[in-house]
Amino acid sequence: MMNKLKVFLFVALFWSPVVIFAGEGMWLPIFLKALNESEMRDMGMKISADDIYNINKGSLKDAIVHFGGFCTSEIISDQGLLLTNHHCGYGQIQSHSSIDNNLLKNGFWASTLSDELPNPGLTATLIDWIDDVSNAALDGVTEDMSSTERQSAIDKNLVKIKESYNLKSYQDVQIRPFYNGNQYFAFITTTYKDVRLVGTPPESIGKFGSDTDNWVWPRHTGDFSMFRIYAGPDNLPAEYSEENIPYKPKHFLPINLKGIKEGDFTMVFGFPGRTQEYLPSYAIEQIVNVLNPAKIEIRDAALKILDSHMRTDEKTKIQYASKYARIANYWKKWIGENLGLIKTKAIDKKQKYEASYVEKNANHGERLTYLPKFNSLYESITPYAYARDYYLEVVGRNVEALNLTSYLRKLVNTYEENGTEEYGKYKARLENYLTDFYKDYNPEIDQEVFTKLCQMYLDHLESTHYPSMFTGNSDISQIANYLYRGSIVPNADMMTDILNREPEIVIATIKNDPLYALAEEWNEIYTDKINKPYQEYNVQIEELQRLYMKAQMETFTDKRFYPDANSTMRITYGNVEGYSPRDAVEYEAFTTLDGVMEKYVPGDYEFDVDEKLQTLYNTKNYGQYANKEGKLPICFIGSNHTTGGNSGSPAIDGHGRLIGLNFDRVWEGTMSDINYDRSICRNIMVDVRYILFIIDKYAGATRLIDEMKLVK
Ligand code: ARG
Ligand code: GLU
Repeated sequence: MMNKLKVFLFVALFWSPVVIFAGEGMWLPIFLKALNESEMRDMGMKISADDIYNINKGSLKDAIVHFGGFCTSEIISDQGLLLTNHHCGYGQIQSHSSIDNNLLKNGFWASTLSDELPNPGLTATLIDWIDDVSNAALDGVTEDMSSTERQSAIDKNLVKIKESYNLKSYQDVQIRPFYNGNQYFAFITTTYKDVRLVGTPPESIGKFGSDTDNWVWPRHTGDFSMFRIYAGPDNLPAEYSEENIPYKPKHFLPINLKGIKEGDFTMVFGFPGRTQEYLPSYAIEQIVNVLNPAKIEIRDAALKILDSHMRTDEKTKIQYASKYARIANYWKKWIGENLGLIKTKAIDKKQKYEASYVEKNANHGERLTYLPKFNSLYESITPYAYARDYYLEVVGRNVEALNLTSYLRKLVNTYEENGTEEYGKYKARLENYLTDFYKDYNPEIDQEVFTKLCQMYLDHLESTHYPSMFTGNSDISQIANYLYRGSIVPNADMMTDILNREPEIVIATIKNDPLYALAEEWNEIYTDKINKPYQEYNVQIEELQRLYMKAQMETFTDKRFYPDANSTMRITYGNVEGYSPRDAVEYEAFTTLDGVMEKYVPGDYEFDVDEKLQTLYNTKNYGQYANKEGKLPICFIGSNHTTGGNSGSPAIDGHGRLIGLNFDRVWEGTMSDINYDRSICRNIMVDVRYILFIIDKYAGATRLIDEMKLVK
């Protein structure tokens, strides 16, 4: 009996790599062969590391495109057809929209190549190859250097490395620090500049569920849009021109129409933005107990005010919809992050890890100094970090008029430092910005936000961090009244009028403006009394983190360390799997169109379903896109370790075929940026069959289906 149990345990622990290893890690494609290939194969991958990253022949990496520098996209035809998220293409879709031709509302499908819409400024970046340049970057750098000396030595080395590349005119090289500056990698890139909008579903599909469903599973969003890379006649990057032709890629992703099931291997390939997996427990305590609660409470207050107005006034709802979504996105993420960190006892877990670090380093005097140093540095920095987040959230983000003063400051500085010509150029840009700003601005609402948030600032921060106007003044609403009446900043007409005057008058008026004056003083307090001490401690923390990172890698030699995300190309892999967010609740891994209809609220701005989709549902007209039960798949989740920037990343099966499109994570698992835990960390993907169904059955854009390679 006992033996059987032992065998069972052994099998469960060591023979089931799917269970043990799946999930954690954002790996560099150049090290897959050495670090990951065999595990990936054990988990169900059929292709080789060489098929994923190879610089001598077309490989998967040649289909992965950094979209505009902020999202990921992938090439899915031999004519440069790009797939990314709806929320990634949102800005472009919006820019082609007007009241009479509202692409956001109605969707858009170019019927021929010549109907595809150019997007000035939008780029598509491919990775040509990646080099480990650590030795050259750290050449001559010694441990006794100060951090400034060290940085300047490295900067000089990086210049030399860049020069040593013999790049083509269309290529560029980016060199980034990894493992907190212990290693350096170079990314040689080619950037295409003619990227056109090909198609998008209406918002009711591409943004179905909007803020209510954001970060939430079960999910039913068709979060995709399509673009195309255009090249010059030589297939190389070219500025927009009618003569440009669709780009011929070295590789594009074939599409798996057979579908996926629970447990299947998946990998996600893209450009994750930022993670912090190797922090000491003190840093996590600071995030959980101090910084996240502060940011959450500020945004909570701001969102409540916006919401109360958006609910009662249609115009306000339209004006504030996009701002509200932006503020709510990270507000909701931080709440989920804290929940997850607490639920999985992340601090406890780190402390145990640190205890084992201390034990293993009993004979390393130097390495033992790091944790106590962190302890004292985090203790010192916390009041400043807290004040800094408070200032940045209140002044830098949520009170719009205060936020606007930073642009006015730039105008004043440009005039005083660079003269009238530069002033004129900046003023023209500012005027464009202001037109958009005031279009969606309501001074009464902003005054309410000002009153509430400044009151919170007063209640929570030390008096040395207040602007003098607040000192000894307990009634912020009076101050707010005075400022919002007396200032030109919240007043579009006055501001426009002033900006048309002579530069001297503009500058004098701004400088005399009471709200501007308040912001100026506040900014000085922030710079000298908050940010300066914050940065002084932060430099020391970063330096210590570099040493601690190195020490962790040298201490736990049997652990594979993946570098924190830094917007460079990575692969993560896991399995299709559901999860249990809390007691008695089990989530399945798949959603279907039935769930869209369950959520349907006629006329609602988040959950409306248009007639066309309803008809397709009622007639079950799913064609080749239905699953085995005859239902239409919508989204699925998996244990892939992703973060912001992975939006639009392809979900790829074991054969290298596209099965879905990454666009979000589950709420309880957003803490994966700090503490990945396979029990609740899941990424959310749209099933590729839903995407193709929308293109084909819903939109009738069959010319796009025809250029793809479908595997049935
Ligand atoms: N949560 C996703 C991400 O972090 C999607 C955000 C866009 N969607 C939204 N409803 N705000 O970026
Ligand atoms: N929506 C995120 C993005 O825009 C991806 C979600 C995440 O943070 O994982 O990149």
